[in-house]
Amino acid sequence: MASDYVNIFDTTLRDGEQAPGCSMTADEKLRVAYQLEKLGVDIIEAGFPISSEEDFLSVKTIAEKIKSCQIAGLCRASFKDIDRGWEAVKASESPRIHTFIATSDIHLKYKLKKSKEQVLEMISGAVKHAKNYTDNVEFSCEDATRTDIEYLCKAVDIAVKAGATTINIPDTVGYTVPEEFAEIIRTLKTNVPALDDVILSVHCHNDLGLAVANSLAAIKEGARQVECTINGLGERAGNASLEEVVMSLKVRNDKQPYKTGLNTEYIYPVSRLVSQVTGVNVQPNKAIVGANAFAHEAGIHQDGVLKERITYEIMSPNEVGIPSNKIVLGKHSGRHAFKNRLEEYGFTLEDEEFELTFKKFKDLADKKKYVFDEDIEALINEEFLNSSDFYQLVSTNFAGGTGMSPSATVLIKMDNKEVTASENGGGPVDAIYKAIKKATDQYPKLESYAVSSITGGTDAQGKVTVRISEDGVVSQGQGADTDIVVASAKAFVNALNKLRWRKQHPRRSTPKGV
Ligand code: KIV
Ligand code: ZN
Repeated sequence: MASDYVNIFDTTLRDGEQAPGCSMTADEKLRVAYQLEKLGVDIIEAGFPISSEEDFLSVKTIAEKIKSCQIAGLCRASFKDIDRGWEAVKASESPRIHTFIATSDIHLKYKLKKSKEQVLEMISGAVKHAKNYTDNVEFSCEDATRTDIEYLCKAVDIAVKAGATTINIPDTVGYTVPEEFAEIIRTLKTNVPALDDVILSVHCHNDLGLAVANSLAAIKEGARQVECTINGLGERAGNASLEEVVMSLKVRNDKQPYKTGLNTEYIYPVSRLVSQVTGVNVQPNKAIVGANAFAHEAGIHQDGVLKERITYEIMSPNEVGIPSNKIVLGKHSGRHAFKNRLEEYGFTLEDEEFELTFKKFKDLADKKKYVFDEDIEALINEEFLNSSDFYQLVSTNFAGGTGMSPSATVLIKMDNKEVTASENGGGPVDAIYKAIKKATDQYPKLESYAVSSITGGTDAQGKVTVRISEDGVVSQGQGADTDIVVASAKAFVNALNKLRWRKQHPRRSTPKGV
């Protein structure tokens, strides 16, 4: 591969998923993986297979289904982890074992309680063990940026000599600054000649808001793999944001003459999907994918952009997949136009799925004049992400108004039977939530409830996001509809399904160090 090629290693499904409240179901992860494949990332880190049976199966499924990306599974530097990791990724056409151990004095003393010599032996043993399975082995020195540089060089040298083909230098706690990180990479390149034959990678956390800057500084010094996540999700303040790294390399190629293999027009659809499945909204001023990233408010800016876009825009929204034509379809639009729009969004549906989604589109177009991209996105996500749900909202009726006590009736399908329940409440949402609880016999606590409008206009769809909890397990749900009470019911049922799934598949806590 040309020396100016930077491999994009996406860890949204592993490090991203470790962020509080960001866990995804196996179906959701597979959906994201398909989109990452379209985006063209080189490597997908699909999970941490030994951490739970669920994570193992999810990595295995992704390894079986995704054809054009390498699939990595994370493993501590222990034979048991590596054996399990290999079982999960081996079905991939291009599997990778990613093994790691901490190398900083702080981690050795307080977490691992091991000597430097013991850790060096473990690195060599783990990498050699992984090499028995595959040639494609990555080794990471956790907390590398707080590791004594001489010891870091030694650890890296041992890993390469044991057979690692990618060496990753994580800034695990987001502590470094660009000049210092560049110096670390330079020193490694100078002092460990064996590094010339392998790919040097970086993995930066964003605790000081420098993850992208640090990653770019490392590329300049020779790093040729960047580990990053969609929307910058990840532990604590998150990881380097994929879209920012990639677009910085693309837009400022004059100063950073490196390339990636990404189809950048898929960036926005993947960002929306990840936000939808994790329930984590993207901050409006987020670079590249935030709602305001291409919005021009000041009159002087609007005037400039209308005269010539490049006066205030350094890239075009189309380049990252943000559609410029906001009004897409209406009630006279046919199958062909709808299919085209779905494909532009990166969704190719089987016939039966398409017909179902098309019917929902027609129903929506009957209720509102213009169907916008955001409406289509909500529709697709509802169709896919709720398709294998245990509880299904079949119908709901409610009544309320001045001087009367709001009441609601719901019909819920579960376990092949239909259950009806009715309740009164302080308002229609209260009544409907009480009725759903009664029908499902589930009584979680409602932690938060928020409603927003998907697009403008009084006929817009309302999007409701709820967060519920029970016995320390938290889940979030979303629902969209032109009627916000129906949207509220859909969001609550969606959250109940996820709560049920999460209770059946307990959220992993990242395994402790070896
Ligand atoms: O932040 C970190 O050090 C990691 C490693 C496991 C690569 O996520
Ligand atoms: Zn990390």
